[in-house]
Amino acid sequence: MDIEVGEVRQIMDWLSSISDDTGPGTTRLLYSPSWLKAQQELKAKFESLGMECRFDAVGNLFGTLVGSKSPERKIATGSHVDTVVRGGKLDGQLGIFGGYLAVKKLLETYGRPKKSLEIISMAEEEGSRFPYVFWGSKNIFGLAKKEDVEALKDGQGVGFVEAMRNCGFDFGDGRARTDIEAFVELHIEQGNFLEEENYTVGVVSSIVGQKRYNITLKGEANHAGTTLMRYRKDTVECMSRIITHCLDKAKAAGDPLVLTFGKVVPKPNTVNVVPGETLFTMDCRHTNAAFLQDFTALLEADMRDIAAKGGIGIEIDNWMNEKPVAMDSKIVGFIECVCQDRKLNYKVMHSGAGHDSQIFAPRVPTGMIFVPSIRGVSHNPAEDTKVEDLCVGIKALAYTLHELAY
Ligand code: GLV
Ligand code: MN
Ligand code: MN
Repeated sequence: MDIEVGEVRQIMDWLSSISDDTGPGTTRLLYSPSWLKAQQELKAKFESLGMECRFDAVGNLFGTLVGSKSPERKIATGSHVDTVVRGGKLDGQLGIFGGYLAVKKLLETYGRPKKSLEIISMAEEEGSRFPYVFWGSKNIFGLAKKEDVEALKDGQGVGFVEAMRNCGFDFGDGRARTDIEAFVELHIEQGNFLEEENYTVGVVSSIVGQKRYNITLKGEANHAGTTLMRYRKDTVECMSRIITHCLDKAKAAGDPLVLTFGKVVPKPNTVNVVPGETLFTMDCRHTNAAFLQDFTALLEADMRDIAAKGGIGIEIDNWMNEKPVAMDSKIVGFIECVCQDRKLNYKVMHSGAGHDSQIFAPRVPTGMIFVPSIRGVSHNPAEDTKVEDLCVGIKALAYTLHELAY
């Protein structure tokens, strides 16, 4: 069951060309025109393979290759169709087009499965347009609440609900799916362990815990020429002190703690005005839930302290708090067996990135397959994986699905 390099290149280039702008990289934000186009064209592609397709209320796409003996039992694969701003051609969509190529190969080689095989193109995972993550997978399990998104707006002031309805979708009934027997997600590693240690496949054992924040500092906008330094309430100065302090603490805490201040929006964001208000984000991750909780509590207290000393107001909004999640040991074992049988060079490993699988794992037996990322670069247009490694990853997925569904 070898996967062809040319076919992988073609489908990868096709899907990454569906982007909100001309690049560099792919930007496909939730409920944008390119997001809708990608979901519609994926539906047509799945249908051309004889799959039954449907969207749920919020726009998750499900393509089902109906099983011949127990069609009601579903073995699912897939990932998220949205990207970060200026993302690469693999994060998320590899799990979708790789799932498609794996199912196509299985159908060509073995015919219909006994149980149904389902490919899920999940609506959203990144939290790149609105401050909400896992909208796709959370809706599959009735975990997303109307109240969580009703007031959200994107950077242009467009409301979450408005954007969703403009694409023809709406809130669901909140019911959780209970018919998925197992979920296996193929994804790029996004780090450099596999490459450094010369492995072709990563078998994920657990996914990192993660907290995300919006922090707003409130000072006073004033004239850059006439306001003496001692009279300023400069929120960019305060933010700089906070960020330097927190990053020093993160470095002192050591691996595997990671801390990122990825977005900074000063107001009025112009050259000759002391910035009177600044919004910035913080993303903090660790494998140990208690450590993550204690560390971020410390940072929150220090931030309040630094702001108070500078006479600056501060609002801290912790809008995401996901605990570390273990993958299912049986599925991990299945994937390991596949790698051993096919003589694939694999490593059992932890994931430092968040994934849809972490929403599935507490509810459905779940596993993940990683392929190496060149230089560990991801969330960047330069994100890449050797096409031969992509083929191996898709093959590992296909054999795992075969174990589970045939
Ligand atoms: C998702 O890509 C994440 O930020 O881990
Ligand atoms: Mn990502
Ligand atoms: Mn991803």
